[in-house]
Amino acid sequence: HENADKASYYVANEIASLIKTKAKTKESVVLGLATGSTPTKVYDYLVDFHKKGLISFSNVFTFNLDEYYPMHPKSIHSYVRFMNEHLFDHIDIPKENIHIPDGTLSKEDLRDYCQAYEEKITNLGGIDLQLLGIGRTGHIGFNEPGSTETSKTRLVRLDRVTRLDAASDFFGEENVPTKAITMGVGTIMAAKRIILMAWGEGKAQVIRDSVEGEIKESVPATFLQQHQNCDFILDKASASELT
Ligand code: F6R
Repeated sequence: HENADKASYYVANEIASLIKTKAKTKESVVLGLATGSTPTKVYDYLVDFHKKGLISFSNVFTFNLDEYYPMHPKSIHSYVRFMNEHLFDHIDIPKENIHIPDGTLSKEDLRDYCQAYEEKITNLGGIDLQLLGIGRTGHIGFNEPGSTETSKTRLVRLDRVTRLDAASDFFGEENVPTKAITMGVGTIMAAKRIILMAWGEGKAQVIRDSVEGEIKESVPATFLQQHQNCDFILDKASASELT
């Protein structure tokens, strides 16, 4: 796409048409959602469509990819707060339909919690559409290099590069959590449709490695090459290294 704005409009329209199609037959829609700078314009457009009366989220269930650990939902850095500010506070989604990994749990409770997160997705029939950004390490969700293809929702250690990229948001690298809870590569790969978005030249190299490189754990996004219904939606700058 010409730029991130046009690309975001395209993605928001695909999500809106999925919601409208499912609404006709009163079916629910399960969306997998991402945070970070990449999807914000998509959320702006979805809010806009809702305010114009074009779509309702009353039949939509959402599962966010990840949350820092530990993290309190009220913290300015929490992904709960991010999602409320960018999307949930402005649409008609029932609160009980929203799922974001809980960064307040004790380590002992995490294993069961992560398994239950997976089961909730499965019990709702799986993710219809998964939105992804990509980190400079090639991470999807917070599946850093070394994550296996079948990995599930779990506690992970964040890569140094990822923590450096988050440093300005946290007013210094030392304040960035070292861990996060993330849906696994396997959880993501089970989605019926996947849209990965990337903007700007800072993502050009990792986009090239992900799309054209060998499939390997050191660049987790390369696993997406094996998905049957996955598109990379790019602006010109992030696509500039593709041959
Ligand atoms: C966020 C997530 C991450 C980001 C990635 C890119 O929920 O799962 O994989 O999508 O780190 O972040 P931005 O969009 O800020 O460049």
